[in-house]
Amino acid sequence: MDELNEIRGILERYLSPMIARSMLQRALRERSITPEQYKRSDAHKLGPLLERGVLLFVSEADRESALRALATLCEETRPTAAACRVELTTENDVSIVRNEARRIGEEVGADSYTVQKVTTMVSELARNIVMYAGSGTLEIIPINDHQRRLVIRASDKGPGIPNLQLVLSGRYRSKTGLGRGLLGTKRLADHFDVVSGPEGTRVVAEIRL
Ligand SMILES: Nc1ncnc2c1ncn2[C@@H]1O[C@H](COP(=O)(O)OP(=O)(O)OP(=O)(O)O)[C@@H](O)[C@H]1O
Ligand SMILES: [Mg+2]
Repeated sequence: MDELNEIRGILERYLSPMIARSMLQRALRERSITPEQYKRSDAHKLGPLLERGVLLFVSEADRESALRALATLCEETRPTAAACRVELTTENDVSIVRNEARRIGEEVGADSYTVQKVTTMVSELARNIVMYAGSGTLEIIPINDHQRRLVIRASDKGPGIPNLQLVLSGRYRSKTGLGRGLLGTKRLADHFDVVSGPEGTRVVAEIRL
C-alpha cells in the first residue's frame, strides 16, 4: 500500500483525497492490479488512465502542471532495455538479431504489432547485409526521451546499392528475392534514411513506441 503514496500524493496535490482515491482505484481495476500488488514500476501503466481523470476533474489552471507531474512519474518508471549490436556474417546471425529484436521490443513494452514490425525490419536489413555485402553490423537502440522509439542502424562496407532510387520506387525487379525488403522496411518505419555508395550502405530506421 505504501508504494501507492507517491502517485496518490501527486493526485492529492490537485484533487480532493476522495476523488484522488477513486480515480486511482478505477485505474488499478482497469489494469487488473490490486492495491497490495501495486509497485512503483506499474505507474507508467496507470498514467494514461489517470490523465483522463486529470482532464475531467482538475481545474484548468492546474491541469498542465498535474499532467506534467504524472508524465514525469511515468517516464521514470517505464521499462527500458539495453541497446544491442550484432556483427553479421551468416544466416544464423540473422536469426540471432531477429530474436534480439523481439526480446528488446517485448522488454520495452511494445504492443505485439510493433514487436512484429521491428522484428521484420531488423531481419530484412540483416538479411540484405549478409546476402549483398557479406558482412556488417546491426544495432537496435531503445531511446527513452520525450519521443520513445527504437532506432535500428544497419551498416556495411559492401558494394552499395547501385539502383537505390529504383528500389525505393517499388518498380525494382530483383533476381535474388522479391525486391521489396528495403521498401517494405521504409514503409513500416516512422523515420527512414538510407545512404549507399561504393564504400558501403547505412540504413537508419526508427519506430515509435
Ligand atoms: N546492404 C546492401 N548492400 C548492397 N546491395 C544491397 C543491400 N541491400 C539491398 N541491396 C540491393 O538492393 C536490392 C533490393 O533489396 P531488397 O531488400 O528491397 O530486395 P531483395 O533483397 O532483392 O528481395 P527481398 O524482397 O527478398 O528482400 C537487392 O536486390 C540488392 O541488389
Ligand atoms: Mg532483401
